[in-house]
Amino acid sequence: MKFAKISQVAHYAPEQVVTNDDLAQIMDTSDEWISSRTGIKKRHISHHESTSDLATSVALDLLKKSGISAQDLDFIIVATITPDSLMPSTAARVQANIGANEAFAYDLVAACSGFVFALSTAEKLISSGAYQKGLVIGSETLSKVVDWSDRGTAVLFGDGAGGVLLESTSDQHFLAEIQKTDGSRGESLTSCLMGLQSPFAQTEDDEKYLTMDGRAIFDFAIRDVAQSIKDTIEASPLEVDEIDYFLLHQANDRILNKIAKKLGVSRDKIPANMMEYGNTSAASIPILLSECVEQGLVKLDGSQKILLSGFGGGLTWGTLIVTI
Ligand code: ACO
Repeated sequence: MKFAKISQVAHYAPEQVVTNDDLAQIMDTSDEWISSRTGIKKRHISHHESTSDLATSVALDLLKKSGISAQDLDFIIVATITPDSLMPSTAARVQANIGANEAFAYDLVAACSGFVFALSTAEKLISSGAYQKGLVIGSETLSKVVDWSDRGTAVLFGDGAGGVLLESTSDQHFLAEIQKTDGSRGESLTSCLMGLQSPFAQTEDDEKYLTMDGRAIFDFAIRDVAQSIKDTIEASPLEVDEIDYFLLHQANDRILNKIAKKLGVSRDKIPANMMEYGNTSAASIPILLSECVEQGLVKLDGSQKILLSGFGGGLTWGTLIVTI
């Protein structure tokens, strides 16, 4: 039998850091408002690098750290809601940039659940026995879809990328998963609505910028996502206290507090880095995972059980429990 395992992690963020105080210079907001409601203190904002540039940096770092060549890769999946273009895909650009000539590549669009959905898909590609090695990357330049005149959303998001190398192995590392979508609630978080535009039809639903019903998303996260995490643990061979770390989408520290309470888990087991990056959508979980490895919390030696949970636009939410 074939199984898949995460064998390397990496992340990258643009150099420019924008603090809450910097934002207060250009809009009617304050560090106190932003940090008390969200935990966010700063975010990285890209000056000249595109989503595929950020993803390429992660891909090159993954190759370097793992000592494999780009030619060894069978596939590249990039989870993103801020591609450089719909065609070619961001993943195709990364494939060209790193010279992964044997790899097929495509983007996966599931907003802040994108990395978890992509990792689940990649695990199936490998455990089917058809493929041996692939990159799964979450990469976003949300700064280009944020409405910078809307303080209610502009302060929440940032740019960055993170990813993993997934490889074939002979023992089971993916222990349980649940993935969900509720399109009937999709209007509460939207971006880049594309109306019809032709000599024959013009529709009104053209809206480039990200829109959000903050309260609805907050309630969704603490109700549906917390329940889904509980259900995934129940479907796994583990008890909640056997999970070493819960790496959750980094939207808001208050959401993490509420989920911790619902799960009966100490916040020490739910690390956060939204204070440094803001919400980077599909990139937030792999950036956090990579930082946890850098800090020695997560070891990549097969000794730990990690829960990954993403939630966001769609609405979508998904949880994976892996040995890492
Ligand atoms: N600075 C100062 N004041 C602000 C700002 C700001 N940046 N943004 C909004 N306000 C004001 C509003 O205008 C409003 O003023 P009013 O009472 O005079 O009308 C007041 O603050 C309260 O606004 P609310 O939107 O009701 O603020 P709330 O307490 O709900 O907090 C927040 C907003 C932080 C977005 C919250 O709803 C939340 O955390 N939602 C979760 C959604 C989330 O994190 N989304 C991230 C993307 S989605 C995802 O990743 C899943």
